[in-house]
Amino acid sequence: MNILIVGSGGREYSIGMALKKDDNVEKLYFAPGNGASDELGENLAISDFNELADFCEANSIDLTIVGPEAPLVEGIVDVFESRGLTIFGPSAQAAQLEGSKIFMKNFLARHNVPTARYIETDSLEEAYKFINTLEAPIVVKADGLCGGKGVIIAQSRDEAKKSAGEMLSGNAFGDAGTKIVVEEFLDGYELSVFAICDGEDYVILPAAQDHKRLLNNDQGPNTGGMGAYAPTPLVNDEIYQKLDERVVIPTLKGMKEEGMPFKGVLFMGVMVVDGEPIILEYNVRFGDPECEELMPLLKSPASDLFYKAATGDLKNATIEFHDKYAVGVVMASKDYPYKSSEPAEIIVDEIVHDDLEANAHISFAGVSRGEDGKLYATGGRVLVCVGIGESIAEAQQRAYMLVGQVHFAGKQCRTDIAYQAL
Ligand SMILES: Nc1ncnc2c1ncn2[C@@H]1O[C@H](COP(=O)(O)OP(=O)(O)O)[C@@H](O)[C@H]1O
Ligand SMILES: [Mg+2]
Repeated sequence: MNILIVGSGGREYSIGMALKKDDNVEKLYFAPGNGASDELGENLAISDFNELADFCEANSIDLTIVGPEAPLVEGIVDVFESRGLTIFGPSAQAAQLEGSKIFMKNFLARHNVPTARYIETDSLEEAYKFINTLEAPIVVKADGLCGGKGVIIAQSRDEAKKSAGEMLSGNAFGDAGTKIVVEEFLDGYELSVFAICDGEDYVILPAAQDHKRLLNNDQGPNTGGMGAYAPTPLVNDEIYQKLDERVVIPTLKGMKEEGMPFKGVLFMGVMVVDGEPIILEYNVRFGDPECEELMPLLKSPASDLFYKAATGDLKNATIEFHDKYAVGVVMASKDYPYKSSEPAEIIVDEIVHDDLEANAHISFAGVSRGEDGKLYATGGRVLVCVGIGESIAEAQQRAYMLVGQVHFAGKQCRTDIAYQAL
């Protein structure tokens, strides 16, 4: 099988690594890929969806897997399917589950999926009225895609009103914020749960926990994610069962009934409050860095999972996971997440311990290949060191041993990834 992966991050690199191990896979391509993915496959400098489809036709690509949300929301799946190409991801219509928080909240409400009490509005007056009925903290969200920056947890009614005003005026997030969701604050612990869906059937992956804040103990500003681990012991069978019955099944049924069957990754942002899983939001693709921990836990061939999901055949798939744990630590550049940093050469020490060689690896993200052939840190989140182990503690130890082998000027990482599980 020849496979194209769309995207350039550590998420796409880790999908590439899983496919590389798979005997069913012949050639791998990345569009655009990053400075290290050219060692797993071939990088393509093509972004136009029709040109990518031309490439797939000309090069016998059997499957395309889309990593990030933007091309999904922009309709890459619709273009490919109209040309008879097999692609894993939701249509533009179905991708609204991530592309519009209002669409998502209204969908959840229509199908009785548990979520925080909310209103959606484009009127400041209505926003104020609802805010007056809530106790702080109060959550204000821009409707559209904001790269993970469109949510304000306001500590007072006044702050919530101010945020609502800044969003609605278009000053805060432009058009993405001219409609907003205001909702009650949920106090609990957060999980990332992923379902691979084929429109009708689904496979749930081991639940993961992300670490959004820059600094240890969940301090400092929000980031794209500084590390993750899976499976998390914060989920038990009862929570999985509730997610099946109350969330995934009604969602897939509802999307189908409404004429937009959901195919792709349904990423459930879950807050567990007093043992009850409540949906904060949906995303329509893998989390990054959660994907980097989930891919190595996949025991079944990755091509089988993605191809069967893309072709509506998941009921004929037996998907297995290793009975192990994975911890991923993001190494970020000096001024992340505030501003970009000077390119810095990456040096990885030779790994001389067999144990580490076998149970840890790097998933490369914000890296570029220099003209000198060397690898440079050029993005905010540069790479993820992933450790695998029989316990979370062992996986964590291996991840951090690998972190110690990686050098670039200004590198920063959290030293407590997976602390909530230890
Ligand atoms: N109702 C809520 N109660 C408590 N925390 C929330 C609530 N909604 C969002 N959050 C917090 O804000 C973060 C971002 O919100 P989310 O809805 O996931 O939007 P996005 O990922 O698009 O920025 C969540 O991961 C969670 O930590
Ligand atoms: Mg989120």
